[in-house]
Amino acid sequence: MLSKFERYPLTFGPTPIEELSRLSEHLGGDIALFAKREDCNSGLAFGGNKIRKLEYIVPDAIASNADTLVTIGGVQSNHTRQVAAVAAKIGMKCRLVQESWVPFQDAVYDRVGNILMSRVMGAEIELVDEGFDIGIRESWENALADVKAKGGKPYAIPAGASVHKYGGLGFVGFAEEVRAQEAEMGITFDYIIVCTVTGSTHAGMLVGFAADGRARNVIGIDASGTPEQTKLQVLDIARKTAELVELGSDITADDVVLNEDYAYPLYGVPSEETNEAIRLCARMEGMMTDPVYEGKSMQGMIDLVRKGFFPAGSKVLYAHLGGVPAINGYSYIYRNG
Ligand SMILES: Cc1ncc(COP(=O)(O)O)c(C=O)c1O
Repeated sequence: MLSKFERYPLTFGPTPIEELSRLSEHLGGDIALFAKREDCNSGLAFGGNKIRKLEYIVPDAIASNADTLVTIGGVQSNHTRQVAAVAAKIGMKCRLVQESWVPFQDAVYDRVGNILMSRVMGAEIELVDEGFDIGIRESWENALADVKAKGGKPYAIPAGASVHKYGGLGFVGFAEEVRAQEAEMGITFDYIIVCTVTGSTHAGMLVGFAADGRARNVIGIDASGTPEQTKLQVLDIARKTAELVELGSDITADDVVLNEDYAYPLYGVPSEETNEAIRLCARMEGMMTDPVYEGKSMQGMIDLVRKGFFPAGSKVLYAHLGGVPAINGYSYIYRNG
């Protein structure tokens, strides 16, 4: 589905799939849980889901003769850290707008984890006092204009690299990769669990798995806390991506399965149940998840297993999209583990 698109390699190659056998056993043993490790996909500043998306965006940035990648996220954004790493790798400058998306106070929240790495990698960072919104932001448009006004050539990457014309392609590739791995492993996954916020990870997967009739087996776990906006954005990106890759069938609103039950209390703020899921997964599997994204999708997967949502014998693939560096900004919560 992707052969006609140029790809700039930034990842190590196909990401490993591992069985979470101790966690599966702990949850009763009727459901086999697996994880596909997008968190280990690249040597670029700890990697993560944006690196896979950026492989299809970078060729366009280079072709545009840009000299500066300009993007936006929250203070502990994984996305902005990955854009900073990619800019360094391809020899461009990086301008980051980091808004106050998370009403969370930890003494060093704006000093550690993702933002620390972005600074070390040389990105120019502007902190802006605006709340959470996955849409197009004035602060980002101002940054683009500012780079231009100073004689630079900006390349615009929206939040999460999502509402970009090529934003969905990387995770179409994820689905194709899973199909090839399924053939090698001699198994088929019945469900795929993905954390959803700005939408192109879910949207890309949905299009990729639609090719073999599994669009609705992709279960998005909302971590935005604004699920209506997120769902519409997933649908819009999925439709445009389906057209781009010539899927040959339409994506409908019913194809976007988004579970809203685990985003509470707010984007970027973990519930006690999210923290318990992070600890359980860490203690059963040595696999770390974060309080903003993957901890919430891990909580969702564990809860859905416990509730009997998956029929006995199901094989469930958890897409681990990265994000662990942000946990450093939440040190007080985990001071005792
Ligand atoms: C670790 C992690 N998981 C999940 C997501 C959600 O992906 P998307 O924004 O493509 O919906 C993000 C980024 O927003 C992320 O950094």
